[in-house]
Amino acid sequence: MDFKSLVSHCKEYGFIFQSSELYDGLAAVYDYGPNGVELKNNIKAYWWQSMTQMHDNIVGIDSSIFMHPKVWKASGHVDAFNDPLIDNKDSNKRYRADVLIEDYCAKIEGKIKKDVTKAAKKFGESFDEEQFRSTNGRIIDRQKKIDDILGRMGNYLRDEDMVSLKALIEECEIACPVSGTKNWTECRQFNLMFSTQLGNIAGEEGKLYLRPETAQGIFVNFLNVQKTSRKKVPFGIAQIGKAFRNEIVARQFIFRMREFEQMEMQFFVRPGTEMEWYEQWKATRMNWHKALGTPESKLRFHDHDNLAHYANAAVDIEYEFPFGFKELEGIHSRTDFDLKQHQELSGRKVQYFDPELNENYVPYVVETSIGCDRMFLAMISNALQEETLTNAEGVESTRIVMKLPPAIAPMKAAILPLLKNDEALVKAAKDLFGEMKKHTKVTYDEKDAIGRRYRRQDAVGTPFCITIDHQTLEDGTVTVRDRDSLEQVRLSTKEAKNKVLLETQLATLL
Ligand code: GAP
Repeated sequence: MDFKSLVSHCKEYGFIFQSSELYDGLAAVYDYGPNGVELKNNIKAYWWQSMTQMHDNIVGIDSSIFMHPKVWKASGHVDAFNDPLIDNKDSNKRYRADVLIEDYCAKIEGKIKKDVTKAAKKFGESFDEEQFRSTNGRIIDRQKKIDDILGRMGNYLRDEDMVSLKALIEECEIACPVSGTKNWTECRQFNLMFSTQLGNIAGEEGKLYLRPETAQGIFVNFLNVQKTSRKKVPFGIAQIGKAFRNEIVARQFIFRMREFEQMEMQFFVRPGTEMEWYEQWKATRMNWHKALGTPESKLRFHDHDNLAHYANAAVDIEYEFPFGFKELEGIHSRTDFDLKQHQELSGRKVQYFDPELNENYVPYVVETSIGCDRMFLAMISNALQEETLTNAEGVESTRIVMKLPPAIAPMKAAILPLLKNDEALVKAAKDLFGEMKKHTKVTYDEKDAIGRRYRRQDAVGTPFCITIDHQTLEDGTVTVRDRDSLEQVRLSTKEAKNKVLLETQLATLL
């Protein structure tokens, strides 16, 4: 399904709404509707249980969004959490300089792809894409150009060389997509943190930041958690919570938001062992994604070219979104940077006494960090499909179906009386609904013909539909329809309930 249809589907079926839509919306801020919040909570529960329940050496916390301003000085975010921005003087539109350049390169890549597609058509089965790319003169030149531009851009970003970055935009003759002119301001660094003011302290002293990552809440609580939970290194601290970034370019729906949610885990290890743990967490996190049934071809690792100010190794798990492979999760070896910085700025020791080594040290940290909203988008875009069905008479029809893993689907089953005007059927359905809702998320629906009700449940990913018909009144059995195979089996109400509970529990993923 194309991206535009996916966005409309999310609104139509109560997954995601634009924030403050009544007032024409607030860019890059979104609200989750009734189905959306259930799906998001299930994703969070899957992550939380994988971390804190399946690992004996990981505990959770929930730290506050506001933190002492010095935290952000120590972490480097005040000085280094910047994006390079540039304005077009004619349209007054603001852009991220690196995104303008990346988009320019994406256009060249688009031309390459066109040539490849043409050639593939021409040569048919015998076409070898790799060979074509490495021998076709025009493609080689274009690829060289892309590599050169992106390579130079990477260097300028690393060196914070804003003058060369602007010169590169001019050299590529990049025009403003709105005004069409090349009338650019200077390039400058823009800090991504939102700030606000404490009520009782005026000026800089009372300046507070909305946290741009949840990780710092974990770092400053390292000693509190280690001492109270009596964990020994290696151990981890997990947290789920809101983060805020004043993104210049906000697009692609919930992919890049100004207010979003992160699921982060900091794993504290002995200095010198961090690369082993880094490799281990890479594998563990990739398996977490694969357990959801996401095709392997849609997931890949991508090593960072430019390391963040705190990392000595970093990799992204990328997912193939409808707009291409993009970062879904980051795994970072953060060294002892953060704890050391907090030790220095607070003037207090942030160290661990290792009883086996009989020595004190500042632990090293391997971090796994995933955006909950991005994970939501990945799940929806993988699951939402338009399917052609053929019935017994050979007649074709289409259905929109969201093939979410049952354990994270918003509703686990729909209870449907075959007819809404038949009191006995309605009573039996409501009785079953009343019983099942004590155990799991179920919905009751009696409106419209049964086929339409099935379609409505398909569209929101409900894995099972339980239909109560006249036979139910005779022998207490119901039909259970499977969302994906469309098979219907006849079971007793007890068997139906147990089937739903068993096949939709998070344990199926863990
Ligand atoms: N603590 C490390 C950290 O924050 P990051 O790569 O900046 O690292 C981690 O962010 C994850 O948070 C990303 O992989 C992404 O899933 C999510 N994320 C970051 N910025 C986001 C935004 N503006 N909107 C939605 N998700 C975002």
